[in-house]
Amino acid sequence: MSTTIAPNLVAAVSEARQWDRLMQLAKIGAIPGDGVNRPCLSPEDREARRLFIGWGEAIGLTASIDQLGNLFLRHEGTDLTAAPVLSGSHMDSQPKGGRFDGIYGVIAALEAVQALREAGITTKRPIEVVGWTNEEGGRFAPGCMGSMAYAGFAPPDTWDDIRDNAGIAWADALREHLAAEADITRRPLGVVEGPAPFAYVEAHIEQGPILEQRDTDIGVVTGIQGSRWFSVEIHGRSDHAGTCPVGMRQDAMQDAIRAITALNALMHDPTDVLRFTVARMEVFPNASNSVADLVRFSIDFRHPDNAVLQARGNAIEGVIAASLRHCSYKLFERFHAVPAVFDPLVVDAVQRAAASQGLSHMRIPSGAFHDSQFMIPLCPSGMIFIPCRGGVSHNPAEYASPEHCAAGARVLAQVLAELANT
Ligand code: GLV
Ligand code: MN
Ligand code: MN
Repeated sequence: MSTTIAPNLVAAVSEARQWDRLMQLAKIGAIPGDGVNRPCLSPEDREARRLFIGWGEAIGLTASIDQLGNLFLRHEGTDLTAAPVLSGSHMDSQPKGGRFDGIYGVIAALEAVQALREAGITTKRPIEVVGWTNEEGGRFAPGCMGSMAYAGFAPPDTWDDIRDNAGIAWADALREHLAAEADITRRPLGVVEGPAPFAYVEAHIEQGPILEQRDTDIGVVTGIQGSRWFSVEIHGRSDHAGTCPVGMRQDAMQDAIRAITALNALMHDPTDVLRFTVARMEVFPNASNSVADLVRFSIDFRHPDNAVLQARGNAIEGVIAASLRHCSYKLFERFHAVPAVFDPLVVDAVQRAAASQGLSHMRIPSGAFHDSQFMIPLCPSGMIFIPCRGGVSHNPAEYASPEHCAAGARVLAQVLAELANT
């Protein structure tokens, strides 16, 4: 299929407007070093959502939310019965996050839809700009709860008892959040209660170094590596640090260290393709002179090859069990996303749009997970990557230039115009 460039559409994408919106949003939850801390379902999250809804309503889009708090801004199509094209990403951030991860894809989708409307281009299908709830999993683990529930991948009450670091349960935070947004129209929950979308496209910063290293404007994303998240509890006994002989202890901290050391050996990969991360740890009672009776830690394990993802992931429990000297353990799998491949309908449309706009581009897989992978069973799905400085992400220093942000939105506008008229 050849692509006709709509010059007025490309010209209607405003680099300045998009950048200004990104910078306005970056002030909500701003942290030192140019970063952002905007946890999902927090007051900062709600403030950002209100600002975003205001921009959408000002150009005639209609807002709605579902029971997970997924937020939609709808541009109407000429065929009132046609399935919508969805485009967006997430508005929550990591605790020490940057100004672009997630929010860029939401703002780029709004910019693309605004450009379509200003260019006078009608679409047969509606386009819905979506902000998925809790993609990051930074406050409540795992991530992608909103998109998983939308897609019917997990029942919407799956995470009700998950708690954040302050002990607040997901169900309570969600209830409070929905009450604060009770004035926004409620819609059925995704394909659990409604029809499937026609297609899904997500723009995102690459979060890795490849596009920048190759001086390439656009990443045509081919798929996403698999991820598995686990939560591990090591149960021991609290004792006096000065009086209890080391040989008599059931020290949960020492056994947690043994378990992590053994897991590092299991996950060793001389090719450095495998990703294994332990980055969250809670210690109880967390006092210098009391032996720990409980240590809880996270495992984030990723690989592009499903055979490795399954084999090593399934070996985790045995390795932990064999490594402990004095304590017992509990293992919970919180997230299991197999490697995903995007649909040529979207992948090829992204490549055509980049080529027709004279942008350098390359095919690239995603190391990060994204809401898009849960759309794959529902409809043709794909992603557009833009470069980010030094490949840095999940860090306040994360940066993507206004020019690259605009290039991504222009490609997205053209892809949305094509898909929404298919
Ligand atoms: C997304 O935030 C990821 O961790 O891949
Ligand atoms: Mn993201
Ligand atoms: Mn992220």
